[in-house]
Amino acid sequence: MSDSTTASVNEISTVELRSLLAAARSLNVRVANRLQASVVRPLAALLDESEDRADAGQHDNADGVATGVVLWDLALRATALCAGPHRPTELIEAAAALQEHATRAGAAEGGGAASARLGELRALLNEQSPSIRTASKGPLLVTNVDDVHDWRVADRRDTYVGQQVTILDNRGTCQHSGLCTDRLSTVFRVKEEPFVAPSGGRMDEIIRAVRDCPSGALGYAIDGVEARADVDHHAKRAPSIEVSKDGPYRVSGGIALLDANGDDVAWNTGASREHFTLCRCGHAQNKPFCTGMHWYVEFHDPVRVPEETPTMFEWAGGLPALTRVMPLFYEKFVPADDLLGRSSRPCRPTIRSGLRSG
Ligand code: SF4
Ligand code: FES
Repeated sequence: MSDSTTASVNEISTVELRSLLAAARSLNVRVANRLQASVVRPLAALLDESEDRADAGQHDNADGVATGVVLWDLALRATALCAGPHRPTELIEAAAALQEHATRAGAAEGGGAASARLGELRALLNEQSPSIRTASKGPLLVTNVDDVHDWRVADRRDTYVGQQVTILDNRGTCQHSGLCTDRLSTVFRVKEEPFVAPSGGRMDEIIRAVRDCPSGALGYAIDGVEARADVDHHAKRAPSIEVSKDGPYRVSGGIALLDANGDDVAWNTGASREHFTLCRCGHAQNKPFCTGMHWYVEFHDPVRVPEETPTMFEWAGGLPALTRVMPLFYEKFVPADDLLGRSSRPCRPTIRSGLRSG
């Protein structure tokens, strides 16, 4: 804890901070795990406490709504503590995470709870001027900036109803392999809107293309029922990871994908868990998933360029190796060889006479 931070902690209520930390630790294990890195860690650092989750699991039986209520209460308390100048970064980081979790829980509850909570949080902070705080080894903490533009492809599943089959597509999940557009260009149309024309091809062709989509962006439904099991190959494929050329890891066979805490990652709407693609170039906007950025950044596998390929001379070790080998060759191997040995025997000096002597 720095000196300036200590002064701020004393200005706030240490008792209230400790109570926040204890409450964050006492949520059910699933939520507590999620709060560990973003709430417990900064609060524990602020109070010079260990990050252990001593009380985690106290509310193991709490249902989603009850947990959401507790999260919302914590978010309000942490946000109220943030009001005022020179608040410690650790507190702002924990408050931001609690606000995020409580708002998401509100969205899951429905009924406008998320926007009501956002409005209340805004009102609590409306005295603060817009700012960005950097946290050590942490995120950028933005206060009171309404327009934060996200250039990622939106997580949105579109539905294209055709005569025989309805195609489901989430552009936010697509890795832009081009398999569907190459194979069925009348259905999956490059540079045309809408991207999908569900009556542009035969049903069996469409189903095959959807099942072969490596990223899991595509799905299909018949008579209003999504054929999830069919798209997921009826869970019959063996676990497999393929390194695609100049592109992502292609995973199939239902391999579990977990975050650093061992929890489920956030999946896009309708994404297949049987097959998906993971970023290998480091530029995806929705890590760990591939978003096709490898193509834009011209990611290439690190192959040896032709001019770096060694010549036979270099491959054999160059002049030093040749210098060592040549005497050995002439001393040992040439004399031992019948033909070479004879031809290399020292010749007596002779004078050959000419055919015509004068
Ligand atoms: S990842 Fe799927 S949807 Fe995207 S281009 Fe490839 S086959 Fe089409
Ligand atoms: S490998 Fe596709 S975005 Fe990185």
